[in-house]
Amino acid sequence: MDHFLYKQGVLYAEDVAIPEIAANVGTPFYVYSSATLTRHFKLFDEALEGMPHLVCYAMKANSNQAVLKLMASLGAGVDVVSGGEYRRAIAAGFPGERIVFSGVGKTVEEMELALNGGIRQFNVESEPEMIALSAVATRLGRVAPITIRVNPDVDAKTHEKIATGKSENKFGIPIAKARQVYAEAAVLPGLKVIGIDVHIGSQLTDLAPFEQAYLKVAELTETLRADGHDISRLDLGGGLGIPYERSNSAPPLPLDYGALVKRTVGHLGCEIEIEPGRLIAGNAGLLVSEVIYVKEGDGRNFLIIDAAMNDLIRPAMYSAYHDILPVVEPAPGTELAPIDIVGPVCESGDTFTKQREMPPLTSGELVAFRSAGAYGAVMASEYNSRPLIPEVLVHEHQFAVIRARPTFDEMINRDTIPEWLERSV
Ligand code: LLP
Repeated sequence: MDHFLYKQGVLYAEDVAIPEIAANVGTPFYVYSSATLTRHFKLFDEALEGMPHLVCYAMKANSNQAVLKLMASLGAGVDVVSGGEYRRAIAAGFPGERIVFSGVGKTVEEMELALNGGIRQFNVESEPEMIALSAVATRLGRVAPITIRVNPDVDAKTHEKIATGKSENKFGIPIAKARQVYAEAAVLPGLKVIGIDVHIGSQLTDLAPFEQAYLKVAELTETLRADGHDISRLDLGGGLGIPYERSNSAPPLPLDYGALVKRTVGHLGCEIEIEPGRLIAGNAGLLVSEVIYVKEGDGRNFLIIDAAMNDLIRPAMYSAYHDILPVVEPAPGTELAPIDIVGPVCESGDTFTKQREMPPLTSGELVAFRSAGAYGAVMASEYNSRPLIPEVLVHEHQFAVIRARPTFDEMINRDTIPEWLERSV
């Protein structure tokens, strides 16, 4: 459920009409619903009730400071994967003890930053990283709490670019090697082993791969405990999928997922962490765009809109499906016709969808892409010198720009001309 509904024939974000935002900020823009973000966080939090737990929002899905501030205010933890994300977490008010640091390539500078600023745990992904972290912590006179990310070799049955739990993926250490690596970690002076981490992929629409992975983690917990390790925390990653195509998909709910967590690892008495990103932010956001032209082609028509692949890359990158709604609700009985919806960027890949059944639309009308709150704005670029588009947050009847659209001058003046070229003209 989200908070984007038609009221008297116009699409609203909570109690704000989308055309009102468009008139204020111009198109295209992203708009997020505070109520949906809050609701999604609470669904996870409640799903894990009865077990000690922390829901660590994976900020890579949407790292706008206002979204982070809202999550921090709800008591969430946060999963970061770079020094930049760590700095965002601190700036949004997350205390160090609620920040988890994941990622395969943490640098010494990032380790120092987190050790000095405060950290709940590092999710370590390789032996060289483990050795480097121990050295940095020792040099700083600190001890780094760690879990080790294991790769359970399960097929997440999702898009190949976002599956992470097969042995051929770059993530974690092979689960078969875990005993050896934990034994190595236990004797490194700068580390304190506290648990196990696993994350098998994103946009999972079936619970079975989670079940396989978590059962393996449960077994490993017992084995490592028998080896003398203190395994008191399990980080079970993110990955629960959302219904991108509402008419024909219904992925499992956080409550079902929570029941699965209890069933597979609940008996171990560990503190549970999860790292959802997409399910919290995805359906809390729309991308709103205006129709520039309707072009009648040879055998097919094109709806050319002012958003493009640089604003929302998911369709071009993963062939992702997004529901696209007219902002003014079509009258009942309006006939739909197939049309390709494309952006202005000079690549055929700048196609959001082909032959989508849409009501008739004309220049100046607005359309809204659903499920654009996660991996939308954060993956945007300025390709074709199209400035990053604004982000807006709605709270009941209020809305605020939470990232302004840069001016063209701001975009151009970020570049600098070397002296020798300056003189050459
Ligand atoms: N934890 C770790 C270690 C991760 O790598 C990820 C996502 C998450 C948590 C959050 O997963 P989520 O709950 O959002 O599925 N750009 C792609 C998705 C990439 C996901 C990368 N890792 C997309 O647009 O579909």
